[in-house]
Amino acid sequence: MDVVSSYVRLTKRSGANYFGLCPFHSEKTPSFSVSPDRQSYHCFGCGKGGGVIGFIMEIENLSFPEAVEFLAKRANMKLPEEVNDRESKKRARMLALNRDAARWFYEQLHTPQAQLARAYMEKRRIGAVTAKNFGLGYAPNEWRMLMDAMKEKGYTEQELFEAGLIRRREKSTYDTFRNRLMFPVIDVRGNVIGFSGRILDDDEPKYMNSPDTLVFDKGRNLFALNLAKKSKSGYIILSEGNIDVVSLHQAGFDSAVASLGTSLTPEQARLISRYTGEVIIAYDGDGAGIKASQRAIGILEKLDLKVRVLRMSGAKDPDELIRTRGPEAFRALLEASENQVDYRLRTIAAKYVLDSPEQKYEYLKEAYGVVARLPDQAQRDLYASRLAEQVGVKEDAVRGDVEKTRVQLIRRARSNENRAAARPERPAAAQGRKLYFDDPRAAAAEQGLIRLLFLDAGYARGQPLPEPGEFSSPELRHIYEALRERIERHAPINLSLLSETLSREEIDLLVQLDQEPVNLSNGEQAMADYISIIHDRYTERQSAAEQQPASDGLLAIRDKYRLTKAYK
Ligand code: UTP
Ligand code: MN
Repeated sequence: MDVVSSYVRLTKRSGANYFGLCPFHSEKTPSFSVSPDRQSYHCFGCGKGGGVIGFIMEIENLSFPEAVEFLAKRANMKLPEEVNDRESKKRARMLALNRDAARWFYEQLHTPQAQLARAYMEKRRIGAVTAKNFGLGYAPNEWRMLMDAMKEKGYTEQELFEAGLIRRREKSTYDTFRNRLMFPVIDVRGNVIGFSGRILDDDEPKYMNSPDTLVFDKGRNLFALNLAKKSKSGYIILSEGNIDVVSLHQAGFDSAVASLGTSLTPEQARLISRYTGEVIIAYDGDGAGIKASQRAIGILEKLDLKVRVLRMSGAKDPDELIRTRGPEAFRALLEASENQVDYRLRTIAAKYVLDSPEQKYEYLKEAYGVVARLPDQAQRDLYASRLAEQVGVKEDAVRGDVEKTRVQLIRRARSNENRAAARPERPAAAQGRKLYFDDPRAAAAEQGLIRLLFLDAGYARGQPLPEPGEFSSPELRHIYEALRERIERHAPINLSLLSETLSREEIDLLVQLDQEPVNLSNGEQAMADYISIIHDRYTERQSAAEQQPASDGLLAIRDKYRLTKAYK
């Protein structure tokens, strides 16, 4: 109640629950509820729910450990020292060094010696406010200036070296970044984790990035995500360069990010998906940019993100476009950006000259591969009729072909035993995770048992509880184990405590189970029924396994293995 109340006004009370407007989707009547008894929240509108840690993860966009840290701070509690104490101290020290270095670079920008750097910024139309928001700085054209300044602050040469701020060649050491406009790379928690520096003249390399260090992993971070995560735009703009990002933010496109000198990685995509459901790719208009866009689409789609691709025209990159034609020009391109299907079809069409039957045929064949994968019938029909018109053939024929292609795709996917590939546009990692149960009857009883125990552990009294090993579903078994362990210790049961042992997904599943209706007037009887069904189904599965000569060895071994593991 305390934590949620600082984000949501709980205006209504109904029974043991309090209601307010859901912070996770927009609504006019309150369907977001908090239960002080169960220490959980649930929105009947959008289905989100969980404990206090999950709530903070969701609303503050934090990972599990970050949310725990956040809550500990809020409650003035000290977290236990990390297990790997030496390493965590080293990390903290490196982050402090990076912060001091960033501050130093920033100060250098305002010295008389930084005349050239300021002129460069002016040339690139980077204003003072923008420079401050990004913490831009200047690395002077000297060999040891940063090193000396940081040593004065008490950092050792070894520490500077490990942070990538100085380099060693034979006996000499020197500053990594010289004569560069400095972009600190700041993670979503506000730590300075590394740097990217652009040369002020025509020297090579144009950009230099910190090497990967204890705190910096280029493939797992994005430039400016610390700023973009606060954007209210509802999408993230993915561009190629640091300067593009800076220009975009300055022009009001505050959700721009860039990957750090590499093409987009799956980890970066996952990071993005924590903050948005839609990505607009705004890469350079050249061949490399187009290739990189295609690769990025593939990676982003796998995470069920909506992807649009901006067609850069009139300039080579977003920065140049904004500088020469103004923010409105970029806004126009943004609004005209295509969804990934349009983009793909256009790219395919560009390969063919649609003036001969052969070319038309080849084009259609390739295009079917894209359209047939769309999960939605109406969408497939829409694209089919567009294709038909474009190529000049009968709409019905194209529709028929698309559906035929789809059947083939699904068949092929099934024969590959690849369930995810059957619906390639919405892979298994989709939001609506659904569990598949080997033994649905057993699983239903297992869920019922969990629900009752969570509601009131008192039901466990007087009845011998099943062994976890008797559960058919590994997911449910894990939740049950956690509950049972607490019941046996007579420890209190609520979501926050359980989230110490259960994963986010397991907590979500538990919340989901908890929301289902249950008739408590007959709790004891229901409990007894669940226990006997679980027991019976288990025995049945065991004997089925024994009677099957072919799988006898394997299944029995597997089950025994599961049992011994479960008992441990
Ligand atoms: P670009 O060469 O497209 O540069 O590199 P840019 O962003 O348009 O830079 P300006 O406008 O000339 O200042 C795009 C990105 O690729 C990485 C950098 O992250 C850069 O922002 N890059 C580029 C490097 O890491 N090293 C390089 O030498 C060049
Ligand atoms: Mn550029």
